[in-house]
Amino acid sequence: LTTNQISFVILGASGDLAKRKIYPSLLRLYIDGELPEKFNVIGYARSSLTDEDVKAKIEPFIDEQDKDSPFFDHLKYIQGSYDKSSDFENLNKKLLEIEGDQPSNRIFYLSLPPNVTADPSKGFNRIVIEKPFGRDLKTFHSLSKSLNSSFTDEETYRIDHFVGKEVVQNIYATRFANPTFSRAWDSESIENIQIIFKEKIDLEGRGGYFDEYGMIRDVMQNHLMQILAMVTMDEPSSNSNIVQEKIKLLKRVKLSEQDVVAAQYQGYNTDSSVKKGTTTETFGAIVAHVENDRWKNVPIYMKAGKALDEKVLQVIVKFKSTSTLFADAPGQELVFRIQPQESIYLNTVSKVAGISNKLNKVLMKHSYEKDLPDAYVRLLRDVMGGDKTNFITEEEINVCWQVFDNLLHNLDNVKGTIAQYEKGSSGPSEEIALANKYNIDLLVRQRADC
Ligand code: BG6
Repeated sequence: LTTNQISFVILGASGDLAKRKIYPSLLRLYIDGELPEKFNVIGYARSSLTDEDVKAKIEPFIDEQDKDSPFFDHLKYIQGSYDKSSDFENLNKKLLEIEGDQPSNRIFYLSLPPNVTADPSKGFNRIVIEKPFGRDLKTFHSLSKSLNSSFTDEETYRIDHFVGKEVVQNIYATRFANPTFSRAWDSESIENIQIIFKEKIDLEGRGGYFDEYGMIRDVMQNHLMQILAMVTMDEPSSNSNIVQEKIKLLKRVKLSEQDVVAAQYQGYNTDSSVKKGTTTETFGAIVAHVENDRWKNVPIYMKAGKALDEKVLQVIVKFKSTSTLFADAPGQELVFRIQPQESIYLNTVSKVAGISNKLNKVLMKHSYEKDLPDAYVRLLRDVMGGDKTNFITEEEINVCWQVFDNLLHNLDNVKGTIAQYEKGSSGPSEEIALANKYNIDLLVRQRADC
């Protein structure tokens, strides 16, 4: 990590992500002694706010005992627009005043569509960008073009915070460092894979953004595809080959129009922040296939939805049942429970103790006892250290858009109606038919938690 002075510039500092994740994660890095002695956290956005206002916005998302942390002396808020170069000149001027004569590195965190240029000064410039990385293949390419005209690839950190989550980080170790799993990781042993993301929350005022994108673009094309790649790719020979293996895998992912369910929760279209008569989906379920030898005919069920009955993010790897002696024994299930209650567990069967010969379910479980840092803490530290292993390359995003582009455009063109589901339910009834078609048991979780 750098010991030089560092300035974090958070563009979009008045937004939701900044107060919930970015500022609290920087505070955590400060408390853990991971920031250099001299650092500045400069918030920039259009709203008129004082430094105190910014602090007040962050306070609900940090621990009580950290509210008086000296960290807050390093915060500064600057108001400005995103489209006037004079405002960015002003930002640069203020930054120079704050940084003084000392060598200083800068990290720009763009929590908004980027339209910004920065002047490499006396140290490195790194820019962190959040999705949306375009709305489709075409808009992604124009975004890349404008970004590449201002920043080199080395300077650009495309963030996908799902990748920074602790249990997601454990996928490689679980798969590759345990021969029991690595040897059985293919269509001969695995029946299906489920990647499930369910939220209880609804729009929560994000209609302006969300209504243009929908759930498949918001979560599936990016976050869930990253997880899919990590779960199904071949073993990389070293850390520097991870991206290559991911891309190789992503290129083989195929979706079919017949295997998609898009639905909207009832009441979504009455929200004042969405278009009248909108048919944007708040729920998506898709069966993907990876067209290579390893995954021949293994359905990969991805699902993401808002306003559902529970909050959960997990991957279920369902193994085939192969015993003739115990023909009724269900196949094992390996579950990466990413959130909440992070854990990795294996549903197995065992003989009931005593004279009985019956079988019962036994859970082998790795729970995480300590509080886990937010994904952003890890990823922001990586930006400081210049480690891009957990960041997403332009080519990966490109391939993910190629996989989804047709399907999404076809969905956009379906005018009129969209399937509905009740708020707080487990999803639309259409989903059951899709799951049944591939013999996928959507009740795995309930069984596993018993
Ligand atoms: C974001 C999506 O990328 O991820 C949101 O835009 C979603 O719609 C969020 O709510 C979920 O992330 P987490 O880490 O809070 O589960």
